[in-house]
Amino acid sequence: MLRELLPSAGEYPGDPADVYDQITFPTLPERPYIFANMVSSLDGKAQVNGAAAGLGSALDQEIMSHLRSLADGILEGAGTVRADRIYRYFPDHLLQLRRRRGQKEHPRWMVVTHSGQVPYDSAIFRLPEDPALVLTPRASEVTQNVVRAGGRCEVVSIPSDGSLHEALAILRQRYQIRWLLTEGGPHFLYSLMKQRVLDELFLTLAPKVIAGEGMTIVEGALLSPTPQIRTEILNLYEHDSELFVRCRLCYQ
Ligand SMILES: NC(=O)c1ccc[n+]([C@@H]2O[C@H](COP(=O)([O-])OP(=O)(O)OC[C@H]3O[C@@H](n4cnc5c(N)ncnc54)[C@H](OP(=O)(O)O)[C@@H]3O)[C@@H](O)[C@H]2O)c1
Repeated sequence: MLRELLPSAGEYPGDPADVYDQITFPTLPERPYIFANMVSSLDGKAQVNGAAAGLGSALDQEIMSHLRSLADGILEGAGTVRADRIYRYFPDHLLQLRRRRGQKEHPRWMVVTHSGQVPYDSAIFRLPEDPALVLTPRASEVTQNVVRAGGRCEVVSIPSDGSLHEALAILRQRYQIRWLLTEGGPHFLYSLMKQRVLDELFLTLAPKVIAGEGMTIVEGALLSPTPQIRTEILNLYEHDSELFVRCRLCYQ
């Protein structure tokens, strides 16, 4: 049973995996509205043995698919694409949901990399629909490597200082991305927060203690002044001691 704790309290009447199916996000004219989905252990770890797999429950995985189904595009940091097998097919009911919402069958897959070191054999470079987008300052090198590996992509150039503002404007205007999901990882989440363009965070707090050396969900230098970002809870749910929080980021 999924229990809603905030903003009101009570049992969620539907299938717990559907809990976010009816939500909508604002449409911004200048860039996509960006929401992140992350999972953390109770002691704040975002990795187990170098990957995210194993942190969240089966329900967390299902909710991840449903959040993906809301998005026009999914943008991942290169570290996550190197660490995890990120691509998955949507089950039929989510494809149907997207059709009913007037969205394309599949979100546009994207990866951001400064080094150009992405796994060129990744499934995201072999999708039948829209080619994946790579946000990178190394446009020609990346394109050549993807083609050499038998895949396809389009490149959106970003400057070497990691500024994402122009690329985000291109995603909104040229690629019609209104709602952009990111699943991190921790360094990319930091980059989005530092540039004040992450709008919402869906965080699963898994009832597990991992300890060890793993990263937290946001990795980077101290944000100053501290805290630079506050969060406002929009929804909070509980299932089998796992907490699902949706919050809005408020930049100071
Ligand atoms: N718990 C969770 O929810 C969750 C979610 C995602 C990932 N993870 C885990 O986190 C780990 C990976 O984390 P990570 O922090 O190393 O990887 P990451 O955040 O996915 O990727 C970091 C890389 O993305 C690129 N990048 C980020 N911001 C950029 C910018 N503004 N401009 C250009 N490039 C930019 C750089 O790529 P280059 O290095 O290629 O230059 C950077 O090194 C994995 O273990 C993964 O399993 C956990």
